[in-house]
Amino acid sequence: MRLVLLGPPGAGKGTQAEKLSAHLGVPRISTGDILRHNVAENTDLGKQAKAFMDSGQLVPDELVIKMVERRLKEPDAKRGFILDGFPRTIAQAEALSKLTKLDAVVSLFLEPEELIKRNTGRRVCPKDDTVYHIWMNPPKKPGICDKCGTPLIVRADDREDVVRTRIETYERQTAPLIKYYRDRGMLREVYASGLIGEIFLRTIEALKA
Ligand code: AP5
Repeated sequence: MRLVLLGPPGAGKGTQAEKLSAHLGVPRISTGDILRHNVAENTDLGKQAKAFMDSGQLVPDELVIKMVERRLKEPDAKRGFILDGFPRTIAQAEALSKLTKLDAVVSLFLEPEELIKRNTGRRVCPKDDTVYHIWMNPPKKPGICDKCGTPLIVRADDREDVVRTRIETYERQTAPLIKYYRDRGMLREVYASGLIGEIFLRTIEALKA
């Protein structure tokens, strides 16, 4: 299965991509996570990406396209993949169409105020990228990753003003991909409100359609 998950910041792409990855037995490829690791390790890519990410803007297409091209060549992606957060522009979608053939694109949608709550309450594990929410999806022990025991952190771009900028960036640059993939008969739209397990079942149903 070669899938793309589209959706505004906080819609639950990462959360659902993890579940789909376990269910389908293909890797989750999150451009946000790859970029954040590059920032944390202060690589050349991380140095170039940091200011864009911290201000809620997209990292330039040429950097992200090269990064995804490299990742898709790794052996585990041969069986399929779930792309979480890529493509985010028409130029990225065009580049992706030259690299591989997709089976479907799932677009998660949710009301803007709900997106703000989800982002500002998010906590992440810097070691294994597991995502939690302080009220809606809390770890067993407050502030500690259930899987590896690492202290959780707040993402640099989860401040409310930056979240609002990220939502605007999505509307301006990424939402046009909804029509792009609908026109190509690949789009599956999934309402992303409700329990995480319910949304997962809706997604599986949408993929059967
Ligand atoms: P990225 O990391 O991709 O961020 P995003 O798209 O803004 O998405 P998020 O990770 O914020 O949200 P999500 O939809 O994955 O939701 P999650 O599952 O975490 O990108 C970050 C930055 O990197 C970008 O701004 C950009 O600068 C750069 N970048 C990345 N890709 C790029 C690209 N292709 N091109 C250019 N630049 C790029 O859930 C959110 C919260 O809600 C969590 O706390 C979770 O526990 C909770 N939650 C999830 N589902 C539910 C539910 N059903 N009920 C209650 N709570 C829930």
